[in-house]
Amino acid sequence: PGWYDNDIDRVIVSEDDIRAKTDELAKQVAADYAQADSVLLVCVLKGAVMFMADFARALSRYGPPAELEFMAVSSYGQGMTSSGVVRILKDLDRDIAGKRVIVVEDIVDSGLTLSWLLKYLESRSAASVDVVALLRKPDAIKVPVPVKYVGFDIPSEFVVGYGLDYAERYRDMPYVGVLKPEVYQR
Ligand code: PRP
Ligand code: MN
Ligand code: MG
Repeated sequence: PGWYDNDIDRVIVSEDDIRAKTDELAKQVAADYAQADSVLLVCVLKGAVMFMADFARALSRYGPPAELEFMAVSSYGQGMTSSGVVRILKDLDRDIAGKRVIVVEDIVDSGLTLSWLLKYLESRSAASVDVVALLRKPDAIKVPVPVKYVGFDIPSEFVVGYGLDYAERYRDMPYVGVLKPEVYQR
């Protein structure tokens, strides 16, 4: 039980589900990157903060050493329909040329953020770019985007927790749940 539980309609991905799936994804990535000297994990703030922390630790049990980088991006305008024009709030701190990059995202919704980000990272001459996303909403996709590692496909409902927010709240909740409509209708 937690502070937010009354605002949540139902749990979509529990803490146990997240732990088990993160471990499974780390094993998959480690197997695919067995020949790599290192990987560069790029966390997409703020939503991916929890998943980045847990995924990086899981990967360290199985895979090559990881370097951690952080970007913060925001869809331009914040309207109801994302234009796909993304503004960089915090850029990479260093050169990624020649690095094997894995983008760490909490959720792929329309795909617009990730689609833009992949082009950006490729323009910075990364040696390779893959994506690991904990969640994906298959019914909400607007642009096809290659996500090599996906934790859970979920329905197109408003979910919060484990990094995902509604108006900056609920990011600290330890699981992913569907927000009760009365919370955003009031
Ligand atoms: C959310 C989420 C993803 C993106 C997915 O981030 O964390 O990054 O939207 O949506 P898309 O596939 O439709 O582009 P948001 O822009 O809310 O910023 P935040 O991570 O700081 O919450
Ligand atoms: Mn985000
Ligand atoms: Mg958000």
